[in-house]
Amino acid sequence: MAQYSRDGMDYRGKVAVVTGASSGLGRQLALDLAAAGAVVVGVARREPELRELTDEMRRSSPKSGYVVCDLASGDIGTTMQSIEETYGPVDVLINNAAMDLKVGLRDIAVDDYRHLMEANFLSAVSATLTVLPGMIERGHGVVAMVSSDGGRLPGSGPGAYPASKAALGAFAESVSYRVRRKGVRVHLVYPAFMPTAMGLAALDRGLRRPPFFARRTVEQVSKLVLRKLGGPHFEINAAPVIVWATVFRAAVPRLYQRFRSSR
Ligand SMILES: NC(=O)c1ccc[n+]([C@@H]2O[C@H](COP(=O)([O-])OP(=O)(O)OC[C@H]3O[C@@H](n4cnc5c(N)ncnc54)[C@H](OP(=O)(O)O)[C@@H]3O)[C@@H](O)[C@H]2O)c1
Repeated sequence: MAQYSRDGMDYRGKVAVVTGASSGLGRQLALDLAAAGAVVVGVARREPELRELTDEMRRSSPKSGYVVCDLASGDIGTTMQSIEETYGPVDVLINNAAMDLKVGLRDIAVDDYRHLMEANFLSAVSATLTVLPGMIERGHGVVAMVSSDGGRLPGSGPGAYPASKAALGAFAESVSYRVRRKGVRVHLVYPAFMPTAMGLAALDRGLRRPPFFARRTVEQVSKLVLRKLGGPHFEINAAPVIVWATVFRAAVPRLYQRFRSSR
């Protein structure tokens, strides 16, 4: 692999796995990686969408494909092994898939948290642990986790989705320190608000429409991610202004909490 540079990686011939590739950001990342010359394997549950994605990817990357997998089933480790057997060692893993719950605090059960943690957090851990030893041995590889501002600035609610993203962030940061000197990069992506199925569903459930500076399209986020992967920065912030909210929270926590609970 050409080593990392500030101008983005050379994706030609790299094997890239994108989870949650059947729609939204994952679909765009898969298409852009394929267009950049990577052999992309899309992972998700909806096969017709994955098939359609694959037809599109193959126009620029004929060896790209897909695997159907329910990440909440605990099978992603085995799926990653079979992907490596079929396509070769994974150079780029993007843990992008996630779900949110439509249950309020009064009705949510601990099993709902378990299911969501499996889909949003443990599946990313499992996929990462499967490919990481090979990346370390080869001295290169990139893993990205797609987080959410909910993971660092949780809002009011049952907290399952923000908890899964906070866990993902802590896992990614710890591992990034451990593997950096071994040539492997781990990134955490904060995409801001995107009008995808998940983003629009959040609006339907009452999320206030974020201001323009906190909104991005999947095309914008995907382009940024491809440019930043393998670079020196752990965090990839699609809307850097949101970082200031974390500074505000740390500097004046009581004021911040009063502001959040009034919303
Ligand atoms: N949209 C936003 O405003 C926003 C903001 C911050 C962060 N994010 C993050 O961005 C990432 C992409 O989300 P998106 O906005 O693009 O949403 P999306 O269009 O709803 O896509 C979610 C993807 O995750 C897959 N997925 C969900 N549960 C799965 C499971 N159990 N097994 C396998 N795949 C599963 C879905 O595929 P199948 O249904 O086919 O399985 C789909 O491809 C997520 O990590 C999300 O948390 C989104």
